[in-house]
Amino acid sequence: MKGVILAGGMGTRLYPLTKITNKHLLPVYDMPMIYYPINTLVKAGIKDIMVVTGGNNAGDFLRLLGNGKEFGLKRLHYAYQEGEGGIAQALSLAEEFAEGRNITVILGDNIFEETVKKAADDFSKVRTGAKIFLKEVSEPQRFGVPEIKGRKIIRIEEKPEKPKSKYAVVGLYMYDNGVFDIIKGLKPSGRNELEITDVNNHYIQKGLMEYEVLPGWWTDAGTIESLYKANTLISELRGKK
Ligand code: DAU
Repeated sequence: MKGVILAGGMGTRLYPLTKITNKHLLPVYDMPMIYYPINTLVKAGIKDIMVVTGGNNAGDFLRLLGNGKEFGLKRLHYAYQEGEGGIAQALSLAEEFAEGRNITVILGDNIFEETVKKAADDFSKVRTGAKIFLKEVSEPQRFGVPEIKGRKIIRIEEKPEKPKSKYAVVGLYMYDNGVFDIIKGLKPSGRNELEITDVNNHYIQKGLMEYEVLPGWWTDAGTIESLYKANTLISELRGKK
């Protein structure tokens, strides 16, 4: 299975930290943020990876990561997103790279404590469908939130005022190759973005969505509070080793 890391966007919620650099190049404890999603994919056994980035500092990714040798990779693939048309729009740039195969997509500001290797191994054998991961959070209204009936997710709402569960849909998604046709049919949301939540709802409506509640901690690092939390969690993790 191939992997795609989405590291575009303007990082406005971290301004002025992101005034002269890309969010994913900022430090999280002892490493640049982008190192964490690369390591998550590599530890899951995914070694064919594309980084989608954008903005004024895209060249810095090449200087920082090169061919990915530091991560044990032969090469890294890159794509450039013009503007910030949303997560699903950034993902659409990986269509040729995917070559008809299943993909694991990770958001560049998402940090995971534990490996998802088993899920990735299992999903590489799946023919059709998608898989998402949930984590219980204290502020679900900041995220995509699933409405769950019995064992089934019936819908995901993006940043709902009144969340229908206490779970966040985390920024790690596994898709069959049909995902690119779904994106082509999407319309921009109220915030003028192609939403990954709309992609996921499409799979849910077709009865092709699986989910798993994540073991270990998870955080994004896209706001000042969550970036601070990510630093603390990583520092504690380093202290345990
Ligand atoms: O962190 C998990 C959450 O991520 C999910 O629960 C939400 O459903 C999902 O929409 C997303 O919400 P955010 O509002 O936090 O997404 P954000 O705009 O911060 O973008 C997350 C990453 O996606 C960002 O670090 C880089 C990438 N991205 C984002 C946009 C808008 C792109 O590559 N291009 C883009 O145009």
